[in-house]
Amino acid sequence: MPLTMLERIAQAVYFFLPAYVANTLPGIFGGGTPVDFGKRFVDGRRLLGDGVTIRGTLAGIAGGTLVGALQGNLLLGFLLASGALAGDAAGSFIKRRLGLERGAPAPLLDQLNFVVGALVFASLITEIPADYIVILFVITPFAHVTVNYLGYRLKVKDVPW
Ligand code: CTP
Ligand code: MG
Repeated sequence: MPLTMLERIAQAVYFFLPAYVANTLPGIFGGGTPVDFGKRFVDGRRLLGDGVTIRGTLAGIAGGTLVGALQGNLLLGFLLASGALAGDAAGSFIKRRLGLERGAPAPLLDQLNFVVGALVFASLITEIPADYIVILFVITPFAHVTVNYLGYRLKVKDVPW
C-alpha cells in the first residue's frame, strides 16, 4: 500500500477521533436512567431500551467534545460526538422497531449508525472529503469488532460484540 494512502487513512481516523471516543465511553461509563425513561412506542416495545442511558450519552458527548477541543476544533468535536450518540440512539430505535431486544446483535447497523450520525452532524459545518467517508465506512466495522472483542476479553464487556 502506498504511504500516501496510509496517511490518508490516518488523517480520516484523526478527523473522526471525537466520534470514536464518543462511541466508546458510554460502554465504560454508561448505566442508570435510560434516555427514554422506560417509555414505550406505539408498538408496545421500548422507545430506545435500557442500553441508551443519560449518563452514557453525556459521557460520550463530553469525552468526544474534549478530544475535539484538544485537536483545536471544539465545535467540530461536539458535532462529531453528539452526532455519533444520536446515530447510535437512532440505531437502537430501529432495532426496537424490528423487535430486537437490547444488546441483540444487528450486524453493520450496530457498527455504522454512529458513523452516519457523526458525519451528518459534522457536515453542518464542514465539507467532508468523499474518500474520508469511504475509508470510515470500510475500516469502522473492523475496528468496532476488534475493540469489542478486546473489551470482552478484558472483561469490560459481557458479550464479544
Ligand atoms: N450506553 C449508554 N448510553 C448510550 C449508549 C451506550 O449507557 N447512549 C452503554 C449501555 O450500557 C450499553 C453499552 O453502552 O449497553 C453498549 O452500547 P450498545 O452496544 O450501543 O448498546 P446495546 O446494549 O447493544 O443496546 P442496543 O441493542 O440498543 O444497541
Ligand atoms: Mg446500541
